[in-house]
Amino acid sequence: MPDALVGLDVGTSGVKGVAIDADGRVLATATADYPLSRPHPGWSEQEPEDWWRGAEDCLARLPEGPIGFSGQMHGLVVLGADGSVLRPAILWNDQRTAVEAAEIEERVGLARLIELTGNRALTGFTAPKLLWLRRHEPELYARIRHILLPKDYVRYRLTGELAIDAADASGTVLFDVRRRAWSEEVCAALDIPLEWLPESHESTEIAGAGDQAAAALGVGIARPGPVSVVLGTSGVVFAALPAYTHDPQARLHVFCHAVPNTWHAMGVMLSAAGSAAWLRGVLGAGLAELDAEAEGWEPGAEGLLFAPYLAGERTPHPDPDARGAFTGLSARHNRGALWRAMLEGVAFGLRDSLELLRELGARPESGRISGGGARSELWLRIVASVLGLPLELTESEEGSAFGAALLAGVRAGVFADADDAVARCVRTRRRIEPEWDYDAGYARFRKLYPALSAVASP
Ligand code: XUL
Repeated sequence: MPDALVGLDVGTSGVKGVAIDADGRVLATATADYPLSRPHPGWSEQEPEDWWRGAEDCLARLPEGPIGFSGQMHGLVVLGADGSVLRPAILWNDQRTAVEAAEIEERVGLARLIELTGNRALTGFTAPKLLWLRRHEPELYARIRHILLPKDYVRYRLTGELAIDAADASGTVLFDVRRRAWSEEVCAALDIPLEWLPESHESTEIAGAGDQAAAALGVGIARPGPVSVVLGTSGVVFAALPAYTHDPQARLHVFCHAVPNTWHAMGVMLSAAGSAAWLRGVLGAGLAELDAEAEGWEPGAEGLLFAPYLAGERTPHPDPDARGAFTGLSARHNRGALWRAMLEGVAFGLRDSLELLRELGARPESGRISGGGARSELWLRIVASVLGLPLELTESEEGSAFGAALLAGVRAGVFADADDAVARCVRTRRRIEPEWDYDAGYARFRKLYPALSAVASP
């Protein structure tokens, strides 16, 4: 029996590592940050070498034990015949592929694509990035022999294995989510060689999952019940499903879950804690100070509304050109008002995803919240109120990395399966009840995106 189980989450701002014991107690944590580059408007790239160095750095500071992997989803890492990285990775929040996403839906046919993969081809997903490289960097494209997703590249550097899990493969648009296997039909229609794709496994077999499935497991969501709410760079509302299903318009993502033969649906907004990081930089103040100033404002901040579309949007507006805004400004508004409106605007964006999950049949009575934004007490109260759901915090705050460590434990035989891992390791420590009525504010927020679209810059 190993003394420690290690989870590594290859995130957008850095690697987070955690080591836990077989009861889920955190033994040690480590983080290593790295930059994100935006060489052109809408682009978002990182160096896979930075992930690897960050992972090495974290592992050197953690006790040894079986390792599980989690990471930012959808990013494209391209490798040549000798396994070397051909260019910087193109990330989940990169928006350069609108033309290629549309081309995929046309080549496969939108209805057939949704039937085969459960999803639309969205700009952040992996396959449109490959088509973009084929069009814009043809010489480099000709040298590709393998493709990997971010955390799978770190596993490759550590073990030499070219592999992926069904949960993360679901976000490539090349994966038959219902059958849990690569879609030969989609690959053929797009002319993408099947040999480039890593072998796909269940998360528990390979000890790995995309960060959202890992985060859900990390807060104890192996089966339908509470929703997982993540306030990371992206903002997510995630429901485990009783069986495979999909929205005929694919407004939500339907992906394989990290528990074998189960699925989940989720809505993803691109700038959640990302909006907070941006506004903090602009206002030049710390989180505690801004939260305290925002508490001085009533809910709704006297009509101030924030549209959180700083990097385009995915759910419920799949629009790479969407942009953020403050509306309803008056001379009375100050820094605290801007901050409160931003916290509320992100919460309204999450509510959009919750409403779509309800349309798909989810009936959650509570949520489990994780991610860096969950450190703001005020944000927790606002999100609980806007969603109209009590929110629970778990003992461990390590979210995705904790989920990855649980997967390491299942693979190593410490736990019988994912349900056993959750039962033994995940405990809730606090519950935040909704306290404010935000229905009228949410109704106003729903009118914001169409209004902003009408004045979008050409
Ligand atoms: C999920 C998604 C983001 C990234 C962030 O679809 O794109 O949540 O996984 O790490």
